[in-house]
Amino acid sequence: MPSRLASVLGAFASAAVLSLTGCGEGKATEMVCPTDNTLTYQSFGQTFMGTYCLRCHNTALMGSARHGAPSDVNFNTLEEIRAESKDIDKMAGASATVTNEEMPPDGEKPSVEDRRKLSQWLACGAPE
Ligand code: HEC
Repeated sequence: MPSRLASVLGAFASAAVLSLTGCGEGKATEMVCPTDNTLTYQSFGQTFMGTYCLRCHNTALMGSARHGAPSDVNFNTLEEIRAESKDIDKMAGASATVTNEEMPPDGEKPSVEDRRKLSQWLACGAPE
């Protein structure tokens, strides 16, 4: 089946590209927002980002002070976080079945429990 073969080759090619750039992504956690969610930016998101992400993904930082974090990926505001919601989940989120630990790349790491809270908060639309 040629189309099947093509998609298998395609998967290999994208895996090769990912390993070349050294910039892999985890999987979407597929977290579902629970009806009793209490996590907000005020109670959780702001502190999480400040503790684990703003050391690099920060509009106040330039050049090497960003430790390689892309200049257009910053988490200073709720709007910026919402805009990157899906990628944040894939890089740092967790659920019952998936744990993504690509971010932060070094330094103090959040617990799996906190990664699950992150994904839950994002799945709920990152309420303020
Ligand atoms: C020590 C610096 C550092 C910290 C801390 C850090 N990052 Fe990163 N981040 C990077 C670098 C470097 C890249 C680019 C390389 C890569 O994508 O692996 C990146 C890339 C990303 C990307 C992908 C951007 C894109 O679209 O290509 C996301 C999303 C991200 N980080 C989220 C986070 C989150 C969420 C946190 C906090 C839990 C975090 N990062 C903490 C350095 C950091």
